[in-house]
Amino acid sequence: MIIAVDGPAASGKGTIARAIARHYGLPYLDTGLLYRAVGLQVLRTGGDPSDPDAALAACAFTDPLLADEQLRSEAAGAAASVVSAHPAVRAALIERQRAFAGQPGGAVLDGRDIGTVIAPHAAAKLFVKAAPAVRARRRHDEIVARGLEISYDRVLADIRERDKRDMLRDHAPLTQAADADLLDTTFMDIEAAVDRALALVEARIRAAAND
Ligand code: CDP
Repeated sequence: MIIAVDGPAASGKGTIARAIARHYGLPYLDTGLLYRAVGLQVLRTGGDPSDPDAALAACAFTDPLLADEQLRSEAAGAAASVVSAHPAVRAALIERQRAFAGQPGGAVLDGRDIGTVIAPHAAAKLFVKAAPAVRARRRHDEIVARGLEISYDRVLADIRERDKRDMLRDHAPLTQAADADLLDTTFMDIEAAVDRALALVEARIRAAAND
């Protein structure tokens, strides 16, 4: 059973996807980490994330990078959003994601194009969204909790810029799959969002079993 969770930055998709994986005892992949690793690798080698050749070369990163603390930084997130627009980068990362999704028993993946490109036949798909101001507030709280200083306005501007890049790119843009369930978490705390997500997934699984 594959479960796809897509949505924009700080929508709650990661927390929701992890909770779903725990609930069903499935392995979980945060696909954003792969793009963040490519972005961080480009920055560390002094390259420009908007250069397709530099970004493609960075796809050969080694696994230990996936555990690097710096992957969570805003710089890595911004670089990820730039490298992820290159079709060659998306192609280079596709097999790894499909192999993870295709393991026996299934998996939960979160990202931007899981329900549309990576696992179009997923048993359940969620598209998690929230108003930009609410997502900026959550992301700002996360950053401050890590002991870093940044203004709320700067976080909001970054989120808007990233949304625009992710939604408007030509290849695998962030968009809700036709058969995905929409979950708007603007007015939900995380517990309510997880409960609702699990109910939506359960309904999909029940419907498939009755087919
Ligand atoms: O949680 P947040 O949205 O801040 O970041 P993320 O999920 O780690 O993704 C970082 C960036 O990678 C996004 O802005 C996307 O541009 C890109 N990404 C993508 O293009 N496709 C995916 N499946 C996952 C992430």
